Amino acid sequence: MTRTLTTSALRMDAVTKTYGAGESAVTALREVSIGLDRGTFTAVMGPSGSGKSTFLHCAAGLDQPTSGSVLLGDVELAGMGEAALTAVRRERVGFVFQAYNLMSALTVAENVALVPRLSGHDVDRAWLHELLDRVGMRDRADRRPAQLSGGQQQRVAIARALVNRPEVVMADEPTGALDTRTGRQVLELFGALVAELGQTVLMVTHDPVAASYADSVVFLADGRIAGRLHHPTAARVSERMAHLGEV
Ligand SMILES: Nc1ncnc2c1ncn2[C@@H]1O[C@H](COP(=O)(O)OP(=O)(O)OP(=O)(O)O)[C@@H](O)[C@H]1O
Ligand SMILES: [Mg+2]
Repeated sequence: MTRTLTTSALRMDAVTKTYGAGESAVTALREVSIGLDRGTFTAVMGPSGSGKSTFLHCAAGLDQPTSGSVLLGDVELAGMGEAALTAVRRERVGFVFQAYNLMSALTVAENVALVPRLSGHDVDRAWLHELLDRVGMRDRADRRPAQLSGGQQQRVAIARALVNRPEVVMADEPTGALDTRTGRQVLELFGALVAELGQTVLMVTHDPVAASYADSVVFLADGRIAGRLHHPTAARVSERMAHLGEV
């Protein structure tokens, strides 16, 4: 494990990812370079197939780039074996998915505490309570996922993602399954976690309004970074997307 000093939560240098080989090879990312400062909220947008999920997977150590460097905090992921990557994901990355992915047999509190348990650690109770408070689920700590609404389940998933104080929270379409109002509450929660806890969030979305909650939006087109918009508004994001070929 190579360590270097950095102030970025995530830095990618010339990351290229090619799936397959020969005739059927698909290059999903082409020489992507980007840095995310700590305590920032970044959205990733682009047409279908532009490489958004691949970008998130390479950033999170779910997938290895074909070439280039990925620094998560001060840890270089390129060249790591699967066992080391699994440890890095558990300790340094928080995941939030469209489908929540909570364990139905476990309570809210047990779901939040599960990832540290898998690494053999008990969660500090004060931190567990603070997280449940922050996501507004402390009074439902003993419920099971089936007894919760979609928005409540997603807030539990966000608490779970934060439990290890990750370098970056990675979210792939976190509001995709929620109605508009509930989705907005989840986005406001991400904004508050960034502002109040200094958490770093990287979110893939198709929704210009969702992207407008971020500090900046990174646009991908055909595997390349096609621009970055700071202080985005939904209107400006839609306009950029139209230029990238998605109306
Ligand atoms: N495991 C894989 N094997 C082969 N090709 C892949 C694989 N994963 C992604 N690709 C290809 O890489 C390109 C980028 O895919 P990716 O899933 O990153 O796009 P995306 O921007 O997330 O799209 P969407 O908005 O539809 O989710 C696509 O051409 C896709 O077909
Ligand atoms: Mg995708």
